[in-house]
Amino acid sequence: MSVNSNSALPKHIGFIMDGNGRWAKKRGLERKFGHREGAKTFRKISEYCCELGIKYVTFYAFSTENWKRPKDEVDAIMSLFESYLDDVRSHVDEKIRVIFIGDKAPFSDSLRNKMIALEEDSKNFDRMTLLLAINYGGRDDIVYSVKKIAEEVKKGNITPDEITEEMISDGLYTKNVPDVDFIIRPSGELRLSNFLIWQAAYAEYYFTDVLWPDFSKKDLDKALEDYLNRKRRYGGI
Ligand code: IPE
Ligand code: IPE
Ligand code: MG
Repeated sequence: MSVNSNSALPKHIGFIMDGNGRWAKKRGLERKFGHREGAKTFRKISEYCCELGIKYVTFYAFSTENWKRPKDEVDAIMSLFESYLDDVRSHVDEKIRVIFIGDKAPFSDSLRNKMIALEEDSKNFDRMTLLLAINYGGRDDIVYSVKKIAEEVKKGNITPDEITEEMISDGLYTKNVPDVDFIIRPSGELRLSNFLIWQAAYAEYYFTDVLWPDFSKKDLDKALEDYLNRKRRYGGI
């Protein structure tokens, strides 16, 4: 089965961009060089997803737990992120919508303002929606949604009995984005690490030992061929 323009392709793919540190270590380089290489892979794979006609793609770039890392590594990641934001105006030309998921509060004003400006400038594009998960945690996402619902209960607008799954989904950072269909994790780890835990309830998973900086278009083709051979039942028969 060819992955090109196949209507059974996932509508929403999530990538856990893992393995940058190990990629650098293998070459005797500092970890930050792995992140730099990983950022290039991110650009290449996001462009390829757009070519394939994938409508929604989420890239996990920095988790709520990644602040535990040494300050120089966190700083290096933030500075790569800032250069991406400076360079990314091309997405506006490419008619790609960009949404940042995760709590923007801890970022510098300069970074946050660039994030908000890009979201605003690209909000009417629908060729592809690129979601960048940065300071994102699946549990944090759910807490954020539940707090909004609790406010509605407090105001007397709804009763606890009236809370539905849709209300929780609508309060998430991924509001109006279809649930993720396919999650790809390179680097050999077999876990979600707090990525889209609510949205992934019926996702398909694909794990590969390839490290993210080495992840190629061919690797994505291979993953998608695997996806196309799966039967999703959603609890039915
Ligand atoms: C993923 O690569 C990037 C981030 C989590 C920011 P890692 O930095 O986790 O790479 P490994 O897992 O140490 O190889
Ligand atoms: C997951 O990778 C987070 C991102 C890719 C942004 P980690 O490297 O942080 O995950 P663990 O620590 O191996 O679970
Ligand atoms: Mg890792």
